[in-house]
Amino acid sequence: MRTNPGGQLAPRDVVGRDRLIEKLWHILERQSLVLTAERRMGKTSILKKMAAEPKKGVRVFFRDLEALRTPLEFVDCVYQDVQADLSLKGRTLNRVRQFMEQVGGAEVKGFKLPQTVAPHWKTILTKTLEDLAEHQEGLLIFGWDEIPMMLDNIKRGQSEAVAMEVLDTLRSLRQMIPTVRMIFTGSIGLHHVIARLKETGYANAPTNDMFTEDVSPLDLEAALSLAMGLLQGEQIRGEDDTVLAAAIATAVDCFPYYIHHVIDELRWTTTTRTPEQVNKIVQANLCDEANRWDLAHYRERIDTYYSGAEQTLALGILDELAATDLPLSQRELLDRLNIQSIGQDLEQVRKVLKLLGRDHYVSQQPDGGYQFRFGLIQRYWKLSRGL
Ligand SMILES: Nc1ncnc2c1ncn2[C@@H]1O[C@H](COP(=O)(O)OP(=O)(O)OP(=O)(O)O)[C@@H](O)[C@H]1O
Ligand SMILES: [Mg+2]
Repeated sequence: MRTNPGGQLAPRDVVGRDRLIEKLWHILERQSLVLTAERRMGKTSILKKMAAEPKKGVRVFFRDLEALRTPLEFVDCVYQDVQADLSLKGRTLNRVRQFMEQVGGAEVKGFKLPQTVAPHWKTILTKTLEDLAEHQEGLLIFGWDEIPMMLDNIKRGQSEAVAMEVLDTLRSLRQMIPTVRMIFTGSIGLHHVIARLKETGYANAPTNDMFTEDVSPLDLEAALSLAMGLLQGEQIRGEDDTVLAAAIATAVDCFPYYIHHVIDELRWTTTTRTPEQVNKIVQANLCDEANRWDLAHYRERIDTYYSGAEQTLALGILDELAATDLPLSQRELLDRLNIQSIGQDLEQVRKVLKLLGRDHYVSQQPDGGYQFRFGLIQRYWKLSRGL
């Protein structure tokens, strides 16, 4: 296995996700899924592995929606995928074809849907899925990576109302066609996109029929196995390979992305590889101005997705939590932030703590105290904020 930090992985190189994938298949038998995680945790790799190694009798259509800007472009992707699949079996999309004839659009084979049918995107999408469900037995799973990005693009390029319509249409399709399942994932949280839509009057809960599953870092055993596999693949020897692999896995909190990065850098060190070198590499990257580990988004995301008052509170809370090794209760946080009044301020703090939880910055302990969810990110925060 070779290092590949951030690139596309072959399904066999996706390490330590078998149990999670088994669970996801199980959930998909009954309902659709929202797959959430910190950036670079391995969501896309999981989705692609599921598409490459589907369960028997299940069809998985994987699509990265990042570059799409209109509902028609989206429907076109779905249409092309379904058409390619059905044509392999000599089937055609009869409902779509009849509808296209009615509205004067030519039948489309391998070409993009014409702009003239743009007002009918909902009908075409519905008929496409109906045609598919008629010809295909078993579950029909659409894995849509970066769907929050597409919704954001649609919101900017068209309007909030159109983005809401897309979400509502997908929800109603999930209700209408019992064999259709969707997996939503992406590098920005869907909750941020929905929160923005709610500010403009969107009242629906478009994913409350879906199961939300969070992707965590690897467990220690899988992280060790990934580190060993990469060390061997890159022919990197330490004094003791097992000790070196353990040092790598623990130094990066078992994040697979950083395991790839550290071993990629170790390749270029000429002296004997030691745990001390591993720690040096991690430390240097936590302070790296060039942001090669893509850590700057932890700070930038707050400016992009939190409102003005939330930003100040979020930064205050994270600074306090970064500077202490013990979990802090809500009361302790309020004291440290110098917030005395019970009322609006307290509600704001609670709201921001919830947001920070959903964005994987903090987690709440069984005794109610808050702390950084990942020690590595806490170290980064502390260093980058000069705390
Ligand atoms: N299970 C895994 N086994 C080995 N390496 C992994 C695994 N998961 C992630 N990686 C490493 O992390 C990188 C990022 O993975 P991936 O693109 O799947 O993450 P992501 O969660 O989709 O990221 P983003 O939020 O940026 O879309 C991969 O290129 C690879 O280097
Ligand atoms: Mg991804």
